[in-house]
Order: sequence, then C-alpha cells, then structure tokens
Amino acid sequence: MVLLNRPKQLNALSTELMDELAGALKELDGDEAIRAIVVGGSERAFAAGADIEELSRATPIDLLYQRRMENWEFIRNLWTPLVAAVSGYCLGGGCELALTCDVIVASETAQLGQPETNLGIIPGAGGTQRWARVAGKAVAMDVILSGRFLSAREALAAGLVSRVVAKEAWLEEAKRVARAIAAKGPVGIRLAKEAVDRAYESPLTLGLEYERRALYLAFASEDAKEGLNAFLEKRPPEFRGR
Ligand code: CAA
Repeated sequence: MVLLNRPKQLNALSTELMDELAGALKELDGDEAIRAIVVGGSERAFAAGADIEELSRATPIDLLYQRRMENWEFIRNLWTPLVAAVSGYCLGGGCELALTCDVIVASETAQLGQPETNLGIIPGAGGTQRWARVAGKAVAMDVILSGRFLSAREALAAGLVSRVVAKEAWLEEAKRVARAIAAKGPVGIRLAKEAVDRAYESPLTLGLEYERRALYLAFASEDAKEGLNAFLEKRPPEFRGR
C-alpha cells in the first residue's frame, strides 16, 4: 500500500511527490510477491491536483525538462494492478491519478472533478481523454468545462468508480479488493489487466484477437493447470505466478 502524505496541501501532487510515488511503485512492482497495490490518500483528500504553487512558478520549458509525464507513463504501464482508495477531494491531477489506477474504490465522501479550467488551464495527465472514454462526452464536457465536482454516487453512475462505501470503510474496502486480486493467479491477472486496457486503445477486432491470444498464453501457464485442477479436486489453488 502506498499512501500520499502531504496533508497541509491536501496531497497536491508536487514533482517531488510524484517522483516519490513512482519510486515507491517501482519498488513494489519489482517484487513478485506483491500482487496488487492500494494507492490512497487521507480521509480528507485523495489528492487535490497538481501543486498549484509549483505550477504557478513553472514555465512551459520547465514542464518539458521536468519530464513530468514520464512518471505518469510509468505508472500507467505497471504490471501490478493498482487499486485507488479515494476519500474526499479527488481533483485535477489527483483524479487523473485515480483514473490511471485499475480499480477505484470511493468513500461516500469522495468528490471527483477536473477543475483546471478554473485556473485558466486544462487537464494534462489524461483527464480530457479518460473522462470522455469512461464517462462519455456529456459528463466529460460538463465536469471539465464547468469545473463542478461529482459526488461518489454520481461517479458510480458515470462508471468512473466501481464501488462506493461508507465513510469509515474506504481504505479497508480497497484493501479487500487488493487482497481478492492478489489471491488470483498472477499470470491470469496480468494478462487480464492488459487485455482490458486494450479495449481503450484498439478497435474491437484487434482487441478480441489480443484477448484470444492472451487466453492461450494464460492456458500455457502452471497457474492455469493449478487453477483448473484445484477446482476439480475441490481444494483452494496455490498459484505461483508461473
Ligand atoms: N496545490 C497546492 N496547494 C493546494 C492545492 C493544490 N492543488 N489544493 C489545496 N491546496 C492547499 C490550499 O492552498 C490550502 O493551503 P493553506 O492552508 O496554506 O492556505 C490547503 O491546501 C487547504 O485547502 P483549502 O483551504 O482551499 O481547503 P478547502 O477545504 O476550503 O477547499 C479544495 C478544498 C476545494 C480542494 C480547494 O483547496 C481547491 O479548490 N484546490 C485546488 C483544486 C484544483 O484546482 N486542482 C487542480 C490543480 S491543477 C492540475 O491538477 C493540473 C493538471 O492536471 C495539469
């Protein structure tokens, strides 16, 4: 589990924090024993966006040289499934971070939005693209152009989050989801994650083709033999990620 911890700035994603987050995720992703990672913030804020103080001092060339997007690309391409545990404010880059994760569990207190237009800028870490693809054009335009925040229930209805839980259960539920993922065969989980991501990036025919081949690959794994045999032998499987 990785928890963002800049409480005074509502976990605003400074360059330093993004570097630390990417570094922590890299370490966890490199450990085969870790099969799912929870990424969370605090009860008050998952993250209130990019650090506005830092942004206000940056020139476009600073943004270019800081290679900020490398961290985002790195997180997007991690093997290990990421479960975002979202409570309170989940705005701007914070919301983009949650949407970069694979599953989002939201507290009923969560507020999701892309208020960059209030600042005279626009989302820059996937917000316009992911909101449009996930929630559709109408919701994306509404949220991004008006700067309004969606409640957790609205976000659930829009398909942005998959579970909304009571205020006190946000982190526990995210851990529960991560544990459920971690109990599955790692080979199948990795292939499934990649296949679902393909749905956003390729035409249906190619996506279906990819899925079929990924299934054949899963079939070739020891995990598949173990999973199928364990079912037939009426015992819990022992997956080894091979
Ligand atoms: N960056 C830096 N500091 C931030 C911040 C941010 N994104 N969001 C909040 N803070 C700081 C505030 O400045 C404040 O600091 P001080 O106590 O030192 O004044 C502290 O966190 C608490 O914030 P508020 O007093 O404003 O708390 P609130 O409960 O009244 O309001 C809020 C909460 C609605 C989240 C409000 O803070 C807010 O609107 N924050 C900015 C949200 C935003 O615009 N995010 C998008 C950033 S741009 C971006 O993300 C760019 C990108 O993708 C390219």
